[in-house]
Amino acid sequence: MDQIESLLKEKRVFKANRDFTKNANWNRKQIAEYRKLGAKSPERFWAKMARNDVSWFTPWKKTLQWKPPFAKWFVGGKLNVSYNCLDRHLEGENAWRRNKAAIVWEGEPGDTRVLTFGELHREVCRFANVLKESGVRKGDRVALYMPMIPELAIALLACARIGAPHSVVFGGFSAEALRDRINDAGAKLVVTADGGFRRGEPHALKPAVDEALEGCPDIERVIVVKRTGQATAMKSGRDLWWHDAVQNASAKCAPARLDSEHPLFILYTSGTTGKPKGILHTTGGYLTHVTTTAKAIFDLKDSDTYWCTADIGWITGHSYVVYGILANGATTLMYEGTPTHPGPDRFWDIIERWGVTVFYTAPTAIRTFVRLGDEHPKGHDLSSLRLLGTVGEPINPEAWMWYHRVIGGRRCPIVDTWWQTETGGIMITPLPAGVDTKPGSATLPFPGVHADVWSEDGQPVKPPNGGFLVIEKPWPGMLRGIWGDPKRFRETYWSKYRETYLAGDGAHRDSDRYFWIMGRIDDVMNISGHRIGTMEVESAIVAHAKVAESAVVGRPDELTGTAIVAFVTPKGGVAAGDGLAQELRAHVAKQIGPIAKPADIRFTDALPKTRSGKIMRRLLRDIAAGKEEVGDTTTLEDYSVLTRLRESQET
Ligand code: PRX
Repeated sequence: MDQIESLLKEKRVFKANRDFTKNANWNRKQIAEYRKLGAKSPERFWAKMARNDVSWFTPWKKTLQWKPPFAKWFVGGKLNVSYNCLDRHLEGENAWRRNKAAIVWEGEPGDTRVLTFGELHREVCRFANVLKESGVRKGDRVALYMPMIPELAIALLACARIGAPHSVVFGGFSAEALRDRINDAGAKLVVTADGGFRRGEPHALKPAVDEALEGCPDIERVIVVKRTGQATAMKSGRDLWWHDAVQNASAKCAPARLDSEHPLFILYTSGTTGKPKGILHTTGGYLTHVTTTAKAIFDLKDSDTYWCTADIGWITGHSYVVYGILANGATTLMYEGTPTHPGPDRFWDIIERWGVTVFYTAPTAIRTFVRLGDEHPKGHDLSSLRLLGTVGEPINPEAWMWYHRVIGGRRCPIVDTWWQTETGGIMITPLPAGVDTKPGSATLPFPGVHADVWSEDGQPVKPPNGGFLVIEKPWPGMLRGIWGDPKRFRETYWSKYRETYLAGDGAHRDSDRYFWIMGRIDDVMNISGHRIGTMEVESAIVAHAKVAESAVVGRPDELTGTAIVAFVTPKGGVAAGDGLAQELRAHVAKQIGPIAKPADIRFTDALPKTRSGKIMRRLLRDIAAGKEEVGDTTTLEDYSVLTRLRESQET
C-alpha cells in the first residue's frame, strides 16, 4: 500500500511534444484510429499491422485461432523472420539499405565493427549453412551462450533462417544453469566464444560450456567464436572455431518458408517454484508484435541510430536489440561490456561518438548513473538523442525526472514500457506522439492490447484501487507455452482467471486510467531488471552440505530495485559466520550465476512457518526490509521465532 500511496501523489504530467508529433511514424490521427480499431477488434487491428509491417511468402487464412489458453496467429501464413530482418532491405525500393549500417558494435576494449545489411545478410547465410552442415535441421534446437558480439545476432538470425529454434542462455549464468537449459530444450548444438570482455578483463565462457556438456549427452557440436584470444581447450571431433567453419561456407542460403506458428525461440525465465520455465515464442505473431511496437513506440526512422543496452540473453535483447529493430530496417547499436568501464561516462561517450538518437535502458542503470553524478553525462554532447525508453521494473519518479532532465535535456519523450518474457513484446506504454507521460507510469495499453486490473475474484477493479494485472484477450506476441510442460503453462498463467492471462504483477490505475505497475505479486524477485525465483536460490543454498534449511526473499534496494536476502539454518554443529556466508555466496554464484548471489545472509535457528509447515515469506520480507511491525501473524506456529529472527546475525 505504501507504494500505491506514494505513486498516487505523483501529479506531474508531460505533454506529448508537438514538434515530435509532426514527423512521428504514428501521428495523433493514426493513434486514435488504431486505438478505436484495437478496442473493437484486436484481430482486425493486428491483421492490419501484420500486412503493413511484415512480409509474408504466403498470406494467412485465419487471423486467430483461440482455444484457451492456446493461441495460433495468422494460421496458414508462411514467412521467415531473417528474411524480414535482412533480405527485404536489399530488394526493390529498399535496396539502398544494402550499405546502410545494420549493426554498429563496440567492444569493451574500444574495438568497433559496423555490419551493413548486405554484410550481415552474407554472414547470416554463411552461418546458416554451417548449421546445416553440422546436421541442424528445421525444428532442432540450438543453444547460444555468448558475449554481446555481432556473432550472437548473426547466430540468432541464422537459426531463424533455417527454422532451428534458438535458446539463448545469458553469458552470466553458470555451467550448471547452462546444462539444465540445454537439456530441458534438448539442444543439439552449442554456439559459444572463448570469452568476452567485462570490466576490462577477459571473462572466459568456454570452460563453463565444457563443464556443462559433461552432463549433456545430446550435444554433438560446439562452435566457438574467438573473441578474447585467451587460451581455450578444444575437444577434437566436437569443437570447431567459428572462423574456420564459416571460411568456406557459401554466402547464399534461401530462407526457409516457415509456418506462422513455427517455433522461433525458447527463452528461460524464473518461476515461483522449481526449475526455470522455457518460454516458447513462434514466428508470425511474434514478429508482427515486435516490429509494429518498435516502429510505433521507438518511432524508428532510417536516420536513427538506436541503442538498447540490454544483453541479447534477455527478452529485451531478442525483441528490441535484434528482431523488432532490424525488421524495421533500422540501425541497432550493440555494446559488449559494462556501463562504467573504463570510466563512469562510457554510455554517454558511446552516445556522443555514434550519435545515438533513441536510447532504451533499465531503471537500475539509471539509478546507478544518478549516483555516479551529473558531471559524467554533462561532460558529453547528448544532443543527438530524441527519444528515451525504460524497461524491466518500475521506475521511481525521481529517477524518471533525472533521465528526462539530464539525459533527455527536457526535450526527449520517455517511453516507460511494461512487458515480460512471456508477452514477447511491449504491452503497456506511452506512444511518443500521442500520450502525455507521468513520471513512474507506463501509461496506457498499446492499441489492440486489452489490459485491466482485477480483484481476487476476477472483477475489474475501479481506479484508483490496486489489484492483479491481467490481459483479457490474446495478442500476437504471447507465449505459446512452456517448453515441454503444458500443465505448468495452464497453472501459472491461466488457472486463476481461466481465459484471462495473469501477468503476475500488481497494478492500479489513476483517474486517467493510466497504469501504475507495482511489481511482482508472487515470489519472483526483480534484481536489476532480471527475474530470479526465490525457489531457485533456495534450492541452490539448500544443496550446500552445511545447510539444513533456507528461505529467500527480496528487500527493497536503492540501486538494484530488489536485493536478495537469504535466511539460513545451518546443519547441527556447523558454525555460522562470515566464512560460511562467503562460502554460500560463492556456491550460489556457481549454481546459478553471480546475479543471484544474496546481498545479505542471515543465520537463524528457525524459520517462521504456518501450522502446515509452509514458510511465511511475507513475514520474512518485512523483517528483511527492517520493518518494525510485521503483517498478520495469526497463522504463525511459533511466535518466538520472530524475536529470534530479528536478532539473527546479519553478515
Ligand atoms: O514485474 C514486471 C517487470 O519485469 C517483469 C518481467 O520481467 P522479464 O520477463 O524479465 O522481462 C523484463 C523485460 C521486458 C514484469 O512482470 N517490468 C517490466 N517492465 C516494467 C516492469 N515493471 C514496471 N514497469 C515496467 N516498465
